[in-house]
Amino acid sequence: MILDLKDLKPHERQNYLQHAIAPRPICFASTIDKAGNINLSPFSFFNLFSTNPPVVIFSPGRRIRDNTTKHSLQNVLEVPEVVINIVDYDMVQQTSLASCEYPKGVNEFVKAGFTPEPATMIKPPMVKESKVKMECRVLEVKVLGSEGGAGNLVICEVLRMHIDESILDENKKIDQRKLHHVARLGGDWYCRVDETNLFIVQKPSTRLGIGLDALPESIRNSKILTANNLGQLANIHEYPIVDPSFEDDHLKQIIQYYNVNPDEMEKELHSHAKRLLDEGRIMEAWQVLLTGN
Ligand SMILES: Cc1cc2nc3c(=O)[nH]c(=O)nc-3n(C[C@H](O)[C@H](O)[C@H](O)COP(=O)(O)O)c2cc1C
Repeated sequence: MILDLKDLKPHERQNYLQHAIAPRPICFASTIDKAGNINLSPFSFFNLFSTNPPVVIFSPGRRIRDNTTKHSLQNVLEVPEVVINIVDYDMVQQTSLASCEYPKGVNEFVKAGFTPEPATMIKPPMVKESKVKMECRVLEVKVLGSEGGAGNLVICEVLRMHIDESILDENKKIDQRKLHHVARLGGDWYCRVDETNLFIVQKPSTRLGIGLDALPESIRNSKILTANNLGQLANIHEYPIVDPSFEDDHLKQIIQYYNVNPDEMEKELHSHAKRLLDEGRIMEAWQVLLTGN
């Protein structure tokens, strides 16, 4: 299916884009108006765009229904300050409750049952229950359109972070396994980050990976090795050579049983290499594969 965005109704555009561009982190924005009324609302059109200077952007859109603007936007235009609170799994239902369209002046800290905690540099309060809070100054609001669905980029400089000790490791860095982020996808779908679904992809080193085009055809066309396995094999910086000191009992057995049948031997070697790759043992997998090449 091919879609031209100009042919879609605004709510259809929103639907396709929000399902495709996902998961999105959630900015739980605490703002205040000139009269001192506090507002707290979630925004998943949100991300980090620069670390030096430290800049994050979230986007309260014009409502598709009636083209009105959100209180959070009105507030930052009056008082250009915001606390961005990171939402974790323990807070997700209350956060969703805070997204109800309460009338202006209604404090969602009260409605959703969060505890306001004074910020140290700006006027809007922080959400005590959030494990990471960022005190931000609004640098600019960039209006993207005047129709329903148009975004307003609230460009924020992060001045100070407050990080709960419980999510830090022994080096005072955030332990990714301890911060159970939730993120928004399309419709009512959310996802949760925890130890059972986190995984590591090794960064390519500063040296260049050899690339998939450098892999021998028998490996590239393997029916056993997956696309991810090929990505791992191609991410080494120089083509490996046979290491005579490499010892592997299973490899010895494969050679012993299958050397009369090269096709079967290749299958066995690829299966063994795949198991090693799935355990992140890339150089060992290469040694196994070099046996067949
Ligand atoms: C998880 C979540 C993410 C949301 N993301 C956005 C968003 O990025 N932009 C937006 O305009 N509304 C978003 N909404 C809806 C707003 O939170 C909702 O319109 C809210 O009532 C705005 O409040 P305000 O008028 O008090 O600022 C989101 C709602 C939820 C629950």
